[in-house]
Amino acid sequence: MASPTLTITDNRTGKRYELAIEHGAIRAPDLAQIRVAPSEPGLVSYDPALLNTAACKSKVSYIDGERGILRYRGYPIEELAEKSSFLETAYLIVKGELPTTSHFKMWQRNITMHTLVHESVRHFIEGFRYDAHPMGILIATVGALSTFYPEAKHVTDLESRRVQTRRLIGKMPTIAAFAYRHSRGLPYVYPDNDLSYTGNFLSMMFKMTELKYRPDPVLERALDVLFILHADHEQNCSTTTMRVIGSSLADPYSAVAGAAAALGGPRHGSANEEVVHMLHEIGSADRIPALIKQVKAGERRLMGFGHRVYKNYDPRARVLRESCHEVLNELGIKDEPLLDLAMELEKISLNDEYFISRKLYPNVDFYSGIIYKAMGFPTSMFTALFAIARTVGWVAQWTEMIEDPDMKIGRPRQLYTGSPRRRYVSLDKRG
Ligand code: ACO
Repeated sequence: MASPTLTITDNRTGKRYELAIEHGAIRAPDLAQIRVAPSEPGLVSYDPALLNTAACKSKVSYIDGERGILRYRGYPIEELAEKSSFLETAYLIVKGELPTTSHFKMWQRNITMHTLVHESVRHFIEGFRYDAHPMGILIATVGALSTFYPEAKHVTDLESRRVQTRRLIGKMPTIAAFAYRHSRGLPYVYPDNDLSYTGNFLSMMFKMTELKYRPDPVLERALDVLFILHADHEQNCSTTTMRVIGSSLADPYSAVAGAAAALGGPRHGSANEEVVHMLHEIGSADRIPALIKQVKAGERRLMGFGHRVYKNYDPRARVLRESCHEVLNELGIKDEPLLDLAMELEKISLNDEYFISRKLYPNVDFYSGIIYKAMGFPTSMFTALFAIARTVGWVAQWTEMIEDPDMKIGRPRQLYTGSPRRRYVSLDKRG
């Protein structure tokens, strides 16, 4: 069968062009040949927010937004959440295959031996104000790691990339936990490498005077599942930031700092924090209609609802909705008003024409905050938890980009809509 093509007729000139279609896409640079005259600029595609532009080819994760499907390297997210562990899923995402037992042990050891941070990193964190938001500390500190590992700038060196990948996955929980302890004026807890990845993180967060912290297995598993669900999500805002920064061949610590900064916005990863604030603000179910009215009037958004790609229930939210009940039951929390309120809000919204017509469903952030809260995490840590898990996706996508023969520095075009050429008038003549 002949390769698929697209024929375009330029009605300005009457000329016809045949563009190749590959993977369901035309190459935007092929449009550049379409021009009114040889001296005129070629056609570009205008796509603010990259609504319909594939900026890369990727094998890491797959989303079918219409059907509510998410897979990492071909494995459905629901299956990984049920059967895998976060570190095993991290291996899958970074390396492309599930590990054998011996490879998994080596991976676990390699990540674990990178959990400590240099003492100067601790001093650096101590320099922040007592009330600094943990995300601000996390972003700045992960960026500062590039000064501790200057060899990280050798991004085209495979071995260097592997070491920085392990360091980033190993150190993000330590930095996040130190950021929290700093904000509480609590002594920092050093990593305990006898514990699992999430068990150690819980220890660094919550250990007080006990000699050995023993994580509650329910919380440990729940956090593991949360981390699995947040590990990668295709070309979202923060991953795109990671790729664009990385495309200049900047070191991965600087790129992760940028990606984490993008994640920190309320339309992206800090929506989980905003959901809990919103539920507190609503307070009781009888106030939901007033909120919905404000949302419909365009005065505010329902946080934790809507998604650029999912036009169906976010599969991660479905897993978390179930997980919410399980975690609360296991913790013996009989009544969690925020969960009751969230479910009522979901029920009302999903039956409302405004939400139905716009295909707005709960996203991953709608329920994650409620679980984090029940687990004892302060609201200000929610996005940092997201960042720990998403670091895996960021580094996997960054490596994929560096190894991609199509890779070039990210540099979109613009449509200039400003003034035509003007003459400079000196200041004293400007009246
Ligand atoms: N509440 C109310 N209305 C909404 C919401 C919402 N949460 N989200 C979208 N809409 C409406 C918009 O007002 C718009 O309506 P209009 O056509 O009448 O103007 C329509 O739905 C389409 O919205 P867009 O902003 O064009 O959708 P986009 O794909 O650009 O935005 C986003 C996606 C940013 C996630 C948006 O749905 C949103 O702001 N949601 C709330 C924040 C949130 O939960 N973010 C977390 C996303 S998941 C993640 O990052 C991990």
